[in-house]
Amino acid sequence: MSRAQIFLGLESSCDDTAAAIVQLAADGRATILSSVVVGQTDLHSAFGGVVPEIAARAHAEKLDHCVEQALTKAKTSLSDVDAIAVTAGPGLIGGVVSGVMCAKGLSAATGIPLYGVNHLAGHALTPRLTDNVAYPYLMLLVSGGHSQFLMVHGPDEFQRLGGTIDDAPGEAFDKVARLIALPQPGGPSIEKAAQSGDPKRFAFPRPLLDREGCDMSFSGLKTAVLRTRDAIVEEKSGLTTQDQADLAAGFQAAVVDVLAEKTRRAFLKYPDATQRTLCVAGGVAANQAIRSALETVSQQHNARFVAPPLDLCTDNAAMIAYSAAEQSRHRAADDLTLSARPRWPLDTTQPSMLGSGKKGAKA
Ligand code: KG4
Ligand code: ZN
Repeated sequence: MSRAQIFLGLESSCDDTAAAIVQLAADGRATILSSVVVGQTDLHSAFGGVVPEIAARAHAEKLDHCVEQALTKAKTSLSDVDAIAVTAGPGLIGGVVSGVMCAKGLSAATGIPLYGVNHLAGHALTPRLTDNVAYPYLMLLVSGGHSQFLMVHGPDEFQRLGGTIDDAPGEAFDKVARLIALPQPGGPSIEKAAQSGDPKRFAFPRPLLDREGCDMSFSGLKTAVLRTRDAIVEEKSGLTTQDQADLAAGFQAAVVDVLAEKTRRAFLKYPDATQRTLCVAGGVAANQAIRSALETVSQQHNARFVAPPLDLCTDNAAMIAYSAAEQSRHRAADDLTLSARPRWPLDTTQPSMLGSGKKGAKA
């Protein structure tokens, strides 16, 4: 590769419509020239979760505006773009189809090569974009829809070490917040309430710590909070602010313990490497208690801890453009038969994760 290449990325697999321009220099260093993310929180707030049909329609309406904005902000035009990258799964199928159709249309009209990218690969490769992390590295994806430990060996080589067998951690934060009458999104409000709470007042379970490996479960913990809440309400006809804070602190402490212990176990599977790195991505990575627990576990394992800036930890299109930039060095472009996939596990050697969360299939 003799000159810098320009990648246009599109993302529409959940409730954010996004487009970005990433430049890949001849030496392999990538720079984000623009990253546009348009959320849909207002459209779904009345329904208590993402409504797939509403999401798909909004993506279809907003995608070309996002592309235009991303090109303008990057001071470039479609004729300068070398490749178009699009999330082709996993996710809510209507949204993924909107993105794939938009990208195919652009590619068919201009002849620019097209790359279908796995959304989870986008998250998993972000630490290379932001911090130039070397392979292999350990990745913990924790958001409202995803929860898994991955050993990342290459741009197309992922080993899944474990993941949630039911709710994703962000989903659990949101549901518990609802149970104890704290506002949505639940993560930030539980973290805030927990600051004035006693994490030891209630003995909440640490699910699956008795089981080997890195699989996690958060649904039983949520039920434990529900039972405790019901017992308090029965006794006192309601929750005081202190009860809310103690429930929040107890729940958060249990999630922290589970993630820390499972991370220790994931380190056992880390192959020999001169520099070991633990990376984290997803909205839950914003939680300070979780971050500092993961940082401590990294120190205990002589590993570097990398948490990309929050706007690149959560859904965005720069990660999709960057993934295609890395992958394009190892594989050919896709053609116009590229299809949208609701499920698309990164590691096909592992049994697939069953069920789907409020934000679509688990993988
Ligand atoms: O990655 P993200 O923005 O969206 C997807 O899930 O795709 O993650 C959102 C999730 C929500 O469930 C939210 O409650 C959670 O991340 N979250 C947090 C915090 N901030 C956001 N969870 C715990 N603590 C936080 N401070
Ligand atoms: Zn995501």
